[in-house]
Amino acid sequence: MSKKDEKNQRMEDLISLCKRRGFIFQGSEIYGGLAGTWDYGHFGLALKNNIKSLWWKKFVTDREDMYGIDADILMNQKVWQATGHAENFSDPLIECKKCKKRFRADKIPDVKKCPDCGGEMGEPKQFNMMFKTHVGAIEDASSVSYLRPETAQGMFVNYKNVIDAYHPKLPFGMAQIGKAFRNEISPGDFTFRSREFEQMEIEYLIKPDSWKEVFEHFRKEMFDWTNLIGLKKEHVYEHEISDEDRAFYSKRTIDFEFDFPFGREELYGLAYRTDYDLKRHSDFSGIELNYLDEETKERFIPHCIEPSFGLDRSVLAVLSDAYTEDNLGGEKRIFMKFSPNVAPVKIAVFPLLKNKPQLVEKAKEVYKNLKKEFGAVMFDDNGNIGKRYRRQDEIGTPYCVTVDFETIEKDNMVTVRDRDTGTQDRIKIEDLFAFFKKALQ
Ligand code: GAP
Repeated sequence: MSKKDEKNQRMEDLISLCKRRGFIFQGSEIYGGLAGTWDYGHFGLALKNNIKSLWWKKFVTDREDMYGIDADILMNQKVWQATGHAENFSDPLIECKKCKKRFRADKIPDVKKCPDCGGEMGEPKQFNMMFKTHVGAIEDASSVSYLRPETAQGMFVNYKNVIDAYHPKLPFGMAQIGKAFRNEISPGDFTFRSREFEQMEIEYLIKPDSWKEVFEHFRKEMFDWTNLIGLKKEHVYEHEISDEDRAFYSKRTIDFEFDFPFGREELYGLAYRTDYDLKRHSDFSGIELNYLDEETKERFIPHCIEPSFGLDRSVLAVLSDAYTEDNLGGEKRIFMKFSPNVAPVKIAVFPLLKNKPQLVEKAKEVYKNLKKEFGAVMFDDNGNIGKRYRRQDEIGTPYCVTVDFETIEKDNMVTVRDRDTGTQDRIKIEDLFAFFKKALQ
């Protein structure tokens, strides 16, 4: 198999597991789908929620300098005029004169020749990626609004509210997790380039002379984060964006790239946005968006360091690094090697046989007690033990607990099976809490 075929195969295997085990489905699937949209099923949602909560804990609740925001997706159209998105948030679009297919001009090998039919291509033109809509019953220029293409602006426009409500001292940050929408010309690579996705962003406001130090701080925090969610160190890279490729308002940008099965691509971004956004909003709204330094009595517009994380790309990276095949006991198996802190299910509890009421009763008791403590615990009595292990391996459950006849008749011990090694240990029921407290850290 060529390298390219291998990569495609790996991606197909992952997509097929995601559907089979209920992580991610094509959006509107029964109607033939809608390109660039994806729906999360029970386990995909659990994985996504775990990543979200870890992010919020690390970047908001564990710190003393962050303020959470949950701004609306629809905003006054002036927001996007102020930021320049209404005019400039576009990608180069090119159409084939023969088959009429449209492509992103910077993503095809030859802008003269159609990658699909070989036909002659037209001239590239700029295509604005914001989804336009109208707010209210009248559809005219004054009612135009957009689905936000980034969560960032929901924070900048609340800067004054944060200052007035909490009186924070610089440096401090605003953090938000929420949906963003981009009418991508060529969505693709599973959820990697979607038209609707979630971002986890921070706008960290600083005095201008401290930008280098703060940039370095978040650079390290972002690497630590990739480690926290279990991404392999050797799959994460920094890519310094050159002066020509950087957004015009940014003085420095680093992309964190990741080895996805389809190649190395952007996972996250870290940018020094200067005072561009607050300055523009101040100019366009006519509202002063400055900061009073109480020591020097100087007023100035704070500068901003922006760590920006795609949530769906985080999920995809975690899924792709977790996907593992091995030969356990001479049989090929697939398992998801999730770090316990993101695993959708932490422990599964089985009765050895489902038609033996005394086993089921004991297993339910163990299940309920573990669930009270560890939350994401699943009871499973479907099919034989081998099938249950295979199912839990593919969901990525780190441990399975089986109640058998010896548990009841002999020693009050259960079998605890480790997902990664397949090893099985007998552990006393009363020792399970302590065991899992340590093992699931
Ligand atoms: N506020 C800055 C900003 O939005 P960006 O590089 O355009 O910067 C930030 O987007 C992150 O959002 C990306 O690093 C990526 O993780 C995610 N992202 C961007 N476009 C996406 C798309 N079409 N589908 C999924 N995630 C996307």
